[in-house]
Amino acid sequence: MAREIPIIWLDSVDSTNTEVYRRADRLDNMSVIAARDQTAGRGQRGNSWLVDPGTNLTFSMYLRFGEGHLPPLPAEDQFVLGEAATLAVARLMEEEGIDARIKWPNDIYVRNRKICGMLIENSLEGRYVRSSIVGIGVNCNQTDFPPQLANPVSMKILTGRHFELEPLLCRLAELLRENVLKLSDVEGRRELREAFLSKMYRIGQLHDYTDLVTGEVFKGTIVGLGKDSRLKVRKEDGSYKEFAFKEISYIL
Ligand code: BTN
Repeated sequence: MAREIPIIWLDSVDSTNTEVYRRADRLDNMSVIAARDQTAGRGQRGNSWLVDPGTNLTFSMYLRFGEGHLPPLPAEDQFVLGEAATLAVARLMEEEGIDARIKWPNDIYVRNRKICGMLIENSLEGRYVRSSIVGIGVNCNQTDFPPQLANPVSMKILTGRHFELEPLLCRLAELLRENVLKLSDVEGRRELREAFLSKMYRIGQLHDYTDLVTGEVFKGTIVGLGKDSRLKVRKEDGSYKEFAFKEISYIL
């Protein structure tokens, strides 16, 4: 049986990503820091990640690449970390009877509502990723959310069940490790890419988007990933456009 992943549970911390960063030199590879309460959780685009204490999973996994650690990861391939992490969460949801989709680049949605967000912070050394802090927040037992969050949902809202956080995290950390180990070979990466495409939110469907560079509101169909894992969209006139993170907004 696979070795258990070391998980350090803290009662309270500002941000598990920040705590992993502070302790990085003393952490085993693929170990996890989780918090029952996160007082200054950080989200994407400089936003805060707000959750009620003790209700949800807020944790970060530390990954170290290069000699003596995980196989070297070229910086240009860093999107695979998001694939590994989002697919681990999507699989956990599936195991709990929830049909979740991956909203590119790394949110997890159930229909039009967000159940999980990620903040993946990579440190580069030359042309390689030296280390990564994969921070994940999963809405588990919270049923009331602050009004400023547009469309949150939780596992409890969807299933009516209460989730024990510690065993849930053990399972998720295991799924995450399995996927991280797949990054080592071409076959594993191909498997992750195929699974990612098959789980993508809105893939193959016509929906509304805003091009954040030009301001244009348009209808388009997500067809997959383009160069550097950008989001590839076919517009109604048949032309294709690829978007980097922060260049497109989904109109829900
Ligand atoms: C987002 O969708 O904006 C990303 C949210 C990421 C939140 C998680 S909770 C655990 C980890 N620690 C943080 O401070 N942020 C991430």
